[in-house]
Amino acid sequence: MNRLRHLAVIMDGNGRWAEQRGLPRWKGHEMGMQAVRRLIEAACRRDIPVLTVFAFSSENWKRPQKEVRMLFTLFHRYLVSERQNLLDNGIRISAVGRRDRIPGIVREVLAATESATEKCSRLHFRIALDYGARHEIVETARSLARAVLERRIEIDQITEDLFSRTISSDEVPDPDFIIRTAGERRLSNFLLWQAAYAELCFLPKLWPDFDESDLENILDDYYSRTRKFGALAAPAPQYGNS
Ligand code: IPE
Ligand code: IPE
Ligand code: MG
Repeated sequence: MNRLRHLAVIMDGNGRWAEQRGLPRWKGHEMGMQAVRRLIEAACRRDIPVLTVFAFSSENWKRPQKEVRMLFTLFHRYLVSERQNLLDNGIRISAVGRRDRIPGIVREVLAATESATEKCSRLHFRIALDYGARHEIVETARSLARAVLERRIEIDQITEDLFSRTISSDEVPDPDFIIRTAGERRLSNFLLWQAAYAELCFLPKLWPDFDESDLENILDDYYSRTRKFGALAAPAPQYGNS
């Protein structure tokens, strides 16, 4: 059976969920937060070690200011209200993405929650916030170029392995399984380097409707897949006396 060390989720469809009900888009984002809580609980029950959720992309700044402000208000509220719960349940939280453009108040609570939960080891919950994979790749290239200029490494030492270790400085394994809700079939600049051999799954359901039974179903799907990484599938086990 496939191991699942890292599940990544592109949570899409909050806006449509609200619009279908004649509600403002922020209501969809608020309900989306509830779905994140359900996902974390379900991931703990399924012993998934690392969970990354795409919460705000580097392209989402193009949205109306009012929506962006509401999203960061919700992130702030989430971090403040969940901190104790995360600690009580052994959940480590960390963020991936740029820190320099997010509101200071979110940056502070994020840093405080990250350090408070640093030692928690039941689940590592990562929030991709102001995250863009291309920016992350360029930053990694810059830091390796700097290391060469400063003679800390030789150019030939830049390998796929070193690049991976530099891009994921917290030693998180590449995602095994990336899911996206709301019927869209694209990665939208999410984990492009790390997704090289991830299994992908696109669900029609809108993110605020995602529940534990959906997770069960997609995990069954994941565990039933054959992952070959370019090699041949392992032969079926032989039974009998031979
Ligand atoms: C995902 O839901 C949440 C964010 C991108 C912040 P959307 O807001 O993209 O929802 P739709 O795609 O408009 O329905
Ligand atoms: C991707 O969703 C980003 C997040 C889920 C945070 P979008 O709704 O922003 O992506 P596009 O614009 O449809 O590709
Ligand atoms: Mg969307």
